[in-house]
This record gives sequence, C-alpha cells and structure tokens, in this order.
Amino acid sequence: MTAPKHDPVVRAFRDTLGMFPTGVTVITARAPSGEPIGLTVSSFNSVSLTPPLVVWSLSGHLPSVPIFENAGVYAINVLAEDQRDLSQRFARRSDDKFAGLDFTEGVDGVPLLPGCSAWFQCRQYARHPGGDHVVFIGEVLRFERDTAKRPLVFQGGAYRRLTDD
Ligand SMILES: Cc1cc2nc3c(=O)[nH]c(=O)nc-3n(C[C@H](O)[C@H](O)[C@H](O)COP(=O)(O)O)c2cc1C
Repeated sequence: MTAPKHDPVVRAFRDTLGMFPTGVTVITARAPSGEPIGLTVSSFNSVSLTPPLVVWSLSGHLPSVPIFENAGVYAINVLAEDQRDLSQRFARRSDDKFAGLDFTEGVDGVPLLPGCSAWFQCRQYARHPGGDHVVFIGEVLRFERDTAKRPLVFQGGAYRRLTDD
C-alpha cells in the first residue's frame, strides 16, 4: 500500500525534493483529434548525448496520460524567466489552455510556444512505470535555444530567478 499524499513523511519527502532546483517546462503534443494539449512539468532532465535522450515524468492519474503515451512526437518548451504566467496557465485544468496563444508548429504539427529559452522536439523512445508516475524517455529530433532568454527556475515550491555572482 502506498502512503497518502497528506502523510507527513510524504510531505517531508516532497519538501526535501524541493531543495533540488529545476527549470520549468511546458510539454505539448497533439491529441488524436488534432487539438493541442500541454502541461507544466519540472521533472525534465537530460539522459544521454548519443543517442540524444531526455526524461520526464507524468502523474499517472492525469487524463493526458493516454494522449502522451500514443503521441508520436511531443515538444518540451523550456520556459523563460518572464513566462511564469504560462507555467501557471498550463498547471491548471482547462479545456482550452491554448486560448489566445500564438504558437507555432514543429514536427508533425507539435505545438511550440513562443518566447521560450529552449525547445526539444522528441519522439517516443521508451516508457516505464514509475510508481504514481509514468516515466517518458524521449529521443530528441530537433532542438533550439534562445540565449537571450534566461530560464525560469523552480525550487521549494516557488519560482526563482537566476542571478550572476
Ligand atoms: C512548477 C510545476 C511543475 C510541475 N511538474 C509536473 C511534473 O513533472 N509532472 C506532472 O505530472 N505534473 C507536474 N505539475 C502539475 C501539472 O502541471 C498539473 O497537474 C496540470 O494541471 C496537469 O494538466 P491537466 O490538469 O490539464 O491534466 C507541475 C506543476 C507545476 C506548477
């Protein structure tokens, strides 16, 4: 049996994980209907250079699990420090997270969000069960970055900014 979310040990585990700063991404794909979908994800990281592989994990109870499992291609949009609003928008359940959003399209029409620090377009490489999450490994087909855009940082449950010493 797994511990409930409000369990103090689970809370402490979460808070301790929060000591590890991450970037913030929005992972996008196309539903079978063609509708764009996306959610805010901080569990993104690098895996391998050759072949180029990345990893992220998706909460197993979310309705987008079967969509991402069946998507041939998805995009990892690395948010810039001025994109907290996009992070919040894609972290809330909504029927049209893309309303009024001027996105472009990548491989197979995958939605690419404007103004980001970086983009990774991936095809499915592997998936693994990961407790209450599904672990996705993506093979990077295309990547791009905008060095003028500092990435948004998430740590301890809050957004942070990178500063130089
Ligand atoms: C900074 C941040 C990071 C998040 N990281 C993840 C993550 O790595 N995996 C995940 O499944 N949900 C993550 N979430 C939560 C999802 O964005 C949230 O559950 C979202 O509502 C899911 O989209 P949906 O409601 O359209 O299914 C994160 C939320 C925030 C604010």
